[in-house]
Amino acid sequence: MDGGEAPGLSVKGWETVDVPHDWAIKGPFDKDIDKQVVQVVQDMDEAPRERTGRTGALPHIGVGWYRKTFEVPAFQPGKKALLAFDGAMSDARVYINGEEVGHWPYGYSYFYFDISDYLKQGEENLLAVRLENLPSSSRWYPGAGIYRKVQVIVKDEVSFNKWATFITTPFISDEVAQVNIQTEISGAATHMVTEIIDPSGKVVAAETTTDRFGSKMEQNIAVPQPQLWGTEHPHLYQARVLLYEGDELKDEEFIRFGIRSVEYERGKGLVLNGEVTKFKGVCLHHDLGPLGAAVNVAALRRQLTILKDMGVNAVRSAHNMPAREQVELCDEMGILYLAESFDEWAKPKVKNGYNRLFEEWAEKDVVNLVRALRNHPSVVMWSSGNEVPDQWGNEGVKRAKWLQDIFHREDPTRPVTVGMDQVAAVMENGFGAITDIPGLNYRVHLYDEAYDRFPQGFILGSETASTVSSRGIYKFPVEIYSHKTYNDFHSSSYDLEYCRWSNLPDDDFVWQDDYDWVIGEFVWTGFDYLGEPTPYNEAWPSRSSYFGISDLAGLPKDRFYLYRSRWNTKDETLHILPHWNWEGREGETTPVFVYTSYNSAELFVNGKSQGIQTKTKDKTKQHRYRLMWMDVQYEPGTLKVVALDDDGQPVAEKEVHTAGAPYGLELVADRSVITADGQDLSYITVSVVDKEGRFCATATPQLDFKVTGAGDFKVVCNGDPTSLELFHLPTMKAFSGQLVVTVQSQKKAGDITLQVKGKGLKTAKMTIKSE
Ligand code: GAL
Repeated sequence: MDGGEAPGLSVKGWETVDVPHDWAIKGPFDKDIDKQVVQVVQDMDEAPRERTGRTGALPHIGVGWYRKTFEVPAFQPGKKALLAFDGAMSDARVYINGEEVGHWPYGYSYFYFDISDYLKQGEENLLAVRLENLPSSSRWYPGAGIYRKVQVIVKDEVSFNKWATFITTPFISDEVAQVNIQTEISGAATHMVTEIIDPSGKVVAAETTTDRFGSKMEQNIAVPQPQLWGTEHPHLYQARVLLYEGDELKDEEFIRFGIRSVEYERGKGLVLNGEVTKFKGVCLHHDLGPLGAAVNVAALRRQLTILKDMGVNAVRSAHNMPAREQVELCDEMGILYLAESFDEWAKPKVKNGYNRLFEEWAEKDVVNLVRALRNHPSVVMWSSGNEVPDQWGNEGVKRAKWLQDIFHREDPTRPVTVGMDQVAAVMENGFGAITDIPGLNYRVHLYDEAYDRFPQGFILGSETASTVSSRGIYKFPVEIYSHKTYNDFHSSSYDLEYCRWSNLPDDDFVWQDDYDWVIGEFVWTGFDYLGEPTPYNEAWPSRSSYFGISDLAGLPKDRFYLYRSRWNTKDETLHILPHWNWEGREGETTPVFVYTSYNSAELFVNGKSQGIQTKTKDKTKQHRYRLMWMDVQYEPGTLKVVALDDDGQPVAEKEVHTAGAPYGLELVADRSVITADGQDLSYITVSVVDKEGRFCATATPQLDFKVTGAGDFKVVCNGDPTSLELFHLPTMKAFSGQLVVTVQSQKKAGDITLQVKGKGLKTAKMTIKSE
């Protein structure tokens, strides 16, 4: 990295890194990095305040250069070469052999340049990329560097234009689906041949087309007995699209798509393949916790696997273009996708945010987003913005319309939403009325009025809850609080603390359960993320969020089970909180909550019944969704819950025990066999346990890690939002008794062994396979 202006023509003396890469994630954390003194209107700040840790307190500000030498043997006369980036953070200036070939400022955009005129055939070329992140340009950790994939694509002069092929399924019946393929081509192509390959790999339809209208070609192909893409069975087809000039094959694309119908109806919302489907969604920022912004497919897949187990059926990419690999995984896993674009339009939230780019770049950024993602069956909605200050005033209404029209032009099949928080303003000025899908961020108290005043006939909870908690931390007395802070900079896992603008999960559930026109929600957020440590924005060393349903390490907080009890309708949920290690609280009131898919349960402390609780609409909203024993007196021993069926018969039980002194470590890998590709990851959860193997929920020993064999230690994370220990160093304190070590495969197969040591603890080892 350096700040110099010249692209230079050598790679000598440069640090070697692998792309995707995030230059800032190794830290160190520093309070002064991007310290912002701002009045955040969205947070209802009454005056400017100092915000430390808002963007994660990691060194992402400044200039970074990347250089790479490469040859492109396939680049011959008659060919062209494209250089494609899935994202570069940010303000990318791209040089080939010392000449600037292009510039793309928005760090989340997918973009490409034609580099044919700059490449040397048959010789070594030098690619140089200059990136620059300004201070006060983000509201969360944006990452830094070439954090997504980069490719050189060589094509014939006669070829499909990039992202031009668009596949839709306008007609679907049990017998047949119409697969419509539209594309644009360059050069003197004579015909196009498409084969449709079904989920089992069989070619089930094919068509040849010679008709050409200028640069455009189109086909309609009948696919018999279509297998639909849905959240339960995400069947995927492929189109093999071939372009010929005479007998010569000039271009070939494999495009994966799904056959599914997506409609939005008044009073119902999303109707997917004829079935009303409510959004059980979460918002996700793009960072992968301790890995930072650098994309890794195994990390993305793990997140989605955890979410699926919770019963999630949808993800919103807050507040920008997602990693393309994440959308591919959602196609494969049957997760609906709401792809967002911007957190700002022309009016700023942060001084150097997207407002500087909006006029010149918004259309180009939206076009690339839509063209790159529109063949993904998981994508069922676009979002043109999140809580944009342009919600106020007529200019903003025009911008909303202008952007929505661009989305429609590029993709007439999907609607557009905006996450709206200025609900009074958007009801007044028409902003909400013209938006395809009225998305409300929080403001449940205005759902009714917005539904009455907007014409669409439904409301989406485009962002909900923003409840805060720290995994395994419980505070007393147990009450509902707004913007509560404590001296240890943690929030309580009784899940009763929210922010000035937000609410509790139960507040959202009530609306969804009582009104069909509330078409679901996207909870803020599925996982904790780096930056935005509300409610500790000014409280160093808080440096990551408390909003996550799971923590920064991916470990579930209690809230995970509250959502699971409602969303995962296949598996039983029976979860007790808090932990039962309260030395010093003997005889004190220590409420016990149970999050469960059952309606009723009896609680026992050391065999003594604490009575039966049943979910009920007759008390508070919490009583409708949680079983709560508010008067339990703490005594060490065993907390046992017995779930009861509707006849009062026991159907399941769970126990939580008071643990003795920390003695050893239990290791559990999310995957015990990984791929020997140098990329794949296994996440190994380390829990402190006593001599009998009982979980020590308050233990915080310093642990040391060593990985041997065919893998490497990658990172470690304990989910503590106030920890300043660095993720890439092989030592960290456990937080609430746990942490997660990430191990990466090498390119050779073999065993990988993780050893974990802690002072006074029995050393633990675990071996996984890489093949
Ligand atoms: C919303 C905003 C999110 C996040 C959240 C925290 O208003 O859209 O980006 O800041 O609040 O509660």
